[in-house]
Amino acid sequence: MKDLFIKKTLAQLSAEAETQNSLRRHLTATNLVLLGIGCIIGAGIFVLTGSAAAMYAGPSVSLSFAISALGCMFAGLCYAEFASMIPISGSAYTYGYATMGEFIAWIIGWDLILEYLFGSATVAVGWSGYVVSLLDYFGIHLPANISQSPFIFNGHEWHTSGAIINFPAMFIVGVLTTLLVTGIKESAKFNNIIVIVKVIVILLFIGFGISYIDTANWHPFIPENTGKFGHFGWSGILTASGVIFFAYIGFDAVSTTSQEAINPKRDMPIGILVSLLVCTILYIAVSLVLTGIVNYKELNVAAPIAVAIDKFGKSMLWLSPVVKIGAIAGLSSVVLVLLMGQSRIFYTMAHDGLLWERFAKVHPKYKTPHVTTIVTGVFSALFAGLFPIGLLGELVSIGTLLAFVIVSIGIIILRKSEPNAPRAFKTPWVPFVPIMGATICFVEMASLPRDTWIRLLVWMAIGFVIYFTYGIKHSKVRKARKTQLFKSPR
Ligand code: ALA
Repeated sequence: MKDLFIKKTLAQLSAEAETQNSLRRHLTATNLVLLGIGCIIGAGIFVLTGSAAAMYAGPSVSLSFAISALGCMFAGLCYAEFASMIPISGSAYTYGYATMGEFIAWIIGWDLILEYLFGSATVAVGWSGYVVSLLDYFGIHLPANISQSPFIFNGHEWHTSGAIINFPAMFIVGVLTTLLVTGIKESAKFNNIIVIVKVIVILLFIGFGISYIDTANWHPFIPENTGKFGHFGWSGILTASGVIFFAYIGFDAVSTTSQEAINPKRDMPIGILVSLLVCTILYIAVSLVLTGIVNYKELNVAAPIAVAIDKFGKSMLWLSPVVKIGAIAGLSSVVLVLLMGQSRIFYTMAHDGLLWERFAKVHPKYKTPHVTTIVTGVFSALFAGLFPIGLLGELVSIGTLLAFVIVSIGIIILRKSEPNAPRAFKTPWVPFVPIMGATICFVEMASLPRDTWIRLLVWMAIGFVIYFTYGIKHSKVRKARKTQLFKSPR
């Protein structure tokens, strides 16, 4: 049983980073911050804010954003310490391998696959919604049967919608997968431009929106609880914080590109924390302006920000397509970073022998992990084409929260097991910060619906089957340990 928790040493990890690094190092601190923002601002703020306000929290969804930000900040500070001392790709999975052993690392890695793979599909569905709405604005009407999910989940049971496939969602995944296969440098440049566009669009919405706020919409700021846990009142704020947690996902994706960063020790913490701070400020502002312009009860729609802009009146009609184009650009960059994070995690796990070795190939010309990128793209497109956004989003939130809980606890363990290892960045106030990170994230998990928990457990069960039938037999760390034991004199 003890063997389940076999660890990679920090020395092993650093050696791997130096000798086995065939990915190019070219990302600067600015690239990393933009990569973070590129991944963070997406379907969470553009789509899920409206439904979280309408169904769970009302105007106090801004408080949900604050709670989630707090959890992310604490977990982010733990991430930053890990990322600065273990500068190789793989994110929390790699950190888990060094601190808590292979089995826990597998749980985290499998969890991160859930986050990035389903996350990219979730955002692709949001992208599809805004594209359909923009095309509508220009008088082009895409038939609903090729632009919507064929399945609907109403919280209790499944229905068919009559649609065949969400084609635009699959299309965007296909285009971005191709871009990623041909080279990350080009992808990072593309990302930088799009990030600037979407931040400008959000600032335009906040800037113009402030003067259209009707403070009556903020009363009551915390609508009374309906008698059911999670439906308004303080428990509603908590449930909404679990739902919109999705909006913060992405800052951790920065750490998955350590192998491609020029100076990972210094730049990783900068990338993670600065991108988180910028997004928190924007989210709280957007949610206050949004619920100030439109009554929260009207916000359960596919494009809530567009609904708010429609209230500005005729003179501001031009803003609607501008914001939709910005949202489309923003959502594209999120899909891109999530697909990239996913393929890197796959790559690292395959490299370690825990997943099929074939996945660990690097393209001889483009120097990208092309096999994992293509496999990721195919599955993401499939999920995006078939499932509704709410269901995918909640699943992603719960999986990511679990990873954050484990990473936060990991920092406390690492301080004990590797007290003298060099750390370019140290999490302040340990154990207070990690305990707060783990606690807030766990409370948010606990406030998510039971169905979401069941889906998480099913996903983990599939993961255990793969680990115990494949990973445990092919693990390189395990093989190296055996060789060592064999060679050492008795
Ligand atoms: N945080 C990302 C989004 O909101 C995943 O789309």
